[in-house]
Amino acid sequence: MHSVAYRLNTLVSFSVLPLALMLAAASFLDGFNSPTVQAHAQIHKIRRFRKQVNGADEVNLSLNISMDMESLFTWNTKQVFVFVTAEYQTPKNSLNQISLWDHIIPDKEHAKFQRVVPNKYPLIDQGSNLRGKNIELVLHWHIMPKSGKMIQDKMSLSTFNLPEAYS
Ligand SMILES: *[C@@H]1O[C@H](CO)[C@@H](O)[C@H](O)[C@H]1NC(C)=O
Ligand SMILES: *[C@@H]1O[C@H](CO)[C@@H](O)[C@H](O)[C@H]1NC(C)=O
Repeated sequence: MHSVAYRLNTLVSFSVLPLALMLAAASFLDGFNSPTVQAHAQIHKIRRFRKQVNGADEVNLSLNISMDMESLFTWNTKQVFVFVTAEYQTPKNSLNQISLWDHIIPDKEHAKFQRVVPNKYPLIDQGSNLRGKNIELVLHWHIMPKSGKMIQDKMSLSTFNLPEAYS
């Protein structure tokens, strides 16, 4: 009895150790992969710009997005979560950051694409600050590794001015 339990324990320790070493090596190597992301996004169309009954400005738009995130995929990458935010300043907030669209890239084969997409989430302001507002589009990405820490980064894509009038 005692000897079987002891042997099992030894076996487990032996098989766990190499795995732990491998995973440590995986996240260590990740530190040396300096990825270069290429992405562009522009407003394709302002589909609707209105003031909600509660007074908050709301914009619906479509984006022309292209990105090449292939370099983010190493053998330790599980998936990459990307999202595009609209960022702007108002007298109340130095940074308003509103997610317009998001997407999960499951593997390297799907990491390069160009498409026109409607916003998944409308751009809604806390007040009515959006007429003529200068907006910056920012791409954010979270690299979810098979092991190790999640890595997040972002890049500015473009800026545009919203119309002066509702439509
Ligand atoms: C979207 O942008 C790409 C460049 O990134 C351009 O080649 C393409 O013509 C644009 N598509 C539309 C529908 O504007
Ligand atoms: C804006 O788009 C959202 C979905 O993205 C939709 O639920 C909403 O009804 C749209 N609003 C208008 C005014 O078109």
